[in-house]
Amino acid sequence: MHLPVSLDPLSEQERSGIGVRIESVCSPEPQRMIELGSMEEGSSLIDELIVLTSQSLCQLEIPEHFNIIKEIGRGKYGQVLLVTHRCKGTPMALKVLPKASTQLQGFLREYCISLHLSCHPCIVGLFGIAFQSSEHYGFAQELVTGRDLFAIIQPRVGIPESAVKRCAVQISCALDFIHQRGLVHRDIKPENILLLDAHCQRVKLADFGLTQRSGTLIRYISGTLPYMSPELCAMVLEEPQKQPKSPPLKVEPSLDIWAFAVLLFCILTGFFPWERCNDADDFYMEFADWRGGQSQSSLPSQWRRFTPACMEMFRRMLALDPNERCTIGEVRRYVGKDWVREKDANGWVGVNGDVGTSTPSPCSSSYCDER
Ligand SMILES: Nc1ncnc2c1ncn2[C@@H]1O[C@H](COP(=O)(O)OP(=O)(O)O)[C@@H](O)[C@H]1O
Ligand SMILES: [Mg+2]
Repeated sequence: MHLPVSLDPLSEQERSGIGVRIESVCSPEPQRMIELGSMEEGSSLIDELIVLTSQSLCQLEIPEHFNIIKEIGRGKYGQVLLVTHRCKGTPMALKVLPKASTQLQGFLREYCISLHLSCHPCIVGLFGIAFQSSEHYGFAQELVTGRDLFAIIQPRVGIPESAVKRCAVQISCALDFIHQRGLVHRDIKPENILLLDAHCQRVKLADFGLTQRSGTLIRYISGTLPYMSPELCAMVLEEPQKQPKSPPLKVEPSLDIWAFAVLLFCILTGFFPWERCNDADDFYMEFADWRGGQSQSSLPSQWRRFTPACMEMFRRMLALDPNERCTIGEVRRYVGKDWVREKDANGWVGVNGDVGTSTPSPCSSSYCDER
């Protein structure tokens, strides 16, 4: 069996740098896309929140209001600080974005979308505090103490199957909530899934910096990631190309479904399935030949480890044509089936082991009713 790209461990220092190893298999992380405008005209709840927040955004200097304990994370766009509130002592995770590289409108959109979604049990909570300092925009998030999903992936191994299943149930529940609200997360990857414990009993989706309304048109992007779908990779502007070759692409929930499938492959195996979805990538082309059913191609070797039930789910999530890709509702039906659940002496239990225990399922709230 040949396996493509290993997810190698990263030191904290490496992760805090720009060219971290997981991304070194591909070009730099995609830039925020060029937005041509929304399909939905008129104001929405999020637009109203943005206007209200921009009118009341307070000006403060971080050390005057928060004790900074340490940096707990860093991504392409921001830095996350562990702080305590100076008056109340409450521990918080402060996401700060440098003004030099962040547009006010982009910050307001990230904050307001995060706030709008933060009531879901599988999405990171917010304190309702947003501000600007002389050098940063920032907002206060619930502190999630258990690292992120990337940090626990063992290269060439992945994470235990029971933990994968728990993540799959909870993240599909969060994505259903997001998609039902007409939004697309657009940055589904292990770094953006926060763990409340080491065994993924409770996980939370974070980072709404790239989230857009479904139907938003994008014209081109630069750089690729292994989580990006084929239709997105076709939008990449290669040097020295100046004009996009493809027509504008509508942001759809199917982008998240593709990324979620790649994430599940990564955490089940400790490998990326491919570096990018284009015809220069042999691993992708082998899969595309099989999935497209063009030739008599057999299932590529790195996919043969999965059970037929699991492979059927991947086949539906990784349809090359986004219009044929399954919805998050269908993904939730797959991850609700017996092959995902654990069995104990009393019969089937949820992957959270929650039946008959005092721990409520994170997906048992009204947001996550069984379909
Ligand atoms: N609420 C939180 N609690 C604990 N750690 C967090 C929290 N939010 C983010 N992090 C950590 O900080 C990293 C960067 O945060 P993120 O919001 O993804 O920034 P970016 O938009 O730059 O990618 C995450 O990958 C995660 O490791
Ligand atoms: Mg991030």
